[in-house]
Amino acid sequence: MSRALATDSHSILGAARQASPAALDPARLPAHVAVIMDGNGRWARRRGLPRVMGHRAGVEALKRTLRLCSDWGIGALTAYAFSTENWNRPGEEVSFLMALFERVLQRELQALERERVRIRFLGDLTPLPEGLQRLIAEATGRTAANDGIHFNVCTNYGGRAELVGAARRLAERAARGELDPAAIDEASFAAELHTAGECDPDLLIRTSGEQRISNFLLWQLAYAELHITEVLWPDFDEAALLAALLDYQNRQRRFGGIDPAH
Ligand code: IPE
Ligand code: IPE
Ligand code: MG
Repeated sequence: MSRALATDSHSILGAARQASPAALDPARLPAHVAVIMDGNGRWARRRGLPRVMGHRAGVEALKRTLRLCSDWGIGALTAYAFSTENWNRPGEEVSFLMALFERVLQRELQALERERVRIRFLGDLTPLPEGLQRLIAEATGRTAANDGIHFNVCTNYGGRAELVGAARRLAERAARGELDPAAIDEASFAAELHTAGECDPDLLIRTSGEQRISNFLLWQLAYAELHITEVLWPDFDEAALLAALLDYQNRQRRFGGIDPAH
């Protein structure tokens, strides 16, 4: 049962709390799960609906996934909601997504607070609509001290932009004489990333069968286990999450070392 949720019998966003499935080994859960939520457009197209209806259904899948991760005791969930390249989509789709983010955050903030979720938005937030930026600041502030699951929503996030930003800030400090370049190491570099303070994802899930990273968490995924499923994001449910976690629990993580059993 989640350490996040203390007293009532309801979990995030009103649904009944779920015990973790018996097939899962609670001692070998990933501490941090990252997900590339892909396939919303195809989900809608298959139903003869406009693409944006897929995004709306995708929100439900994200709520479901957050609830399950929290209930099952996963420490952090990082979801790719909008990439730096997604601005290349038609203007109407981008506007719909921005309005959707704002509406959902407004609607769910109280529940997130109640369930002790700590929400953060990773990415360059300055090009987002002002109302959304204000709401993000409010949600981040109001949930900052929460001791439940860390829920990171990557919004206008790009791995390359993140790395360049980190390099630039370190270079500026070095140029001002505040930092010895020889003192830059992996830890001080990671501390400049949006994910500072968060452990690296143990498991990356990508839905809709695409076998690529799409500029997501380029540094942080260095040793993540990859689980790619054909399931389209709006269809991602308890069975799909369980399959990903069981797949993860069957992997042998070696981090460049050797498997002592062989
Ligand atoms: C992922 O679904 C959601 C975002 C990128 C915002 P897509 O919109 O990429 O869905 P497909 O890949 O076109 O099916
Ligand atoms: C990745 O999906 C970005 C998000 C899920 C937010 P895309 O659909 O944008 O990725 P590509 O274009 O297929 O690589
Ligand atoms: Mg896509």
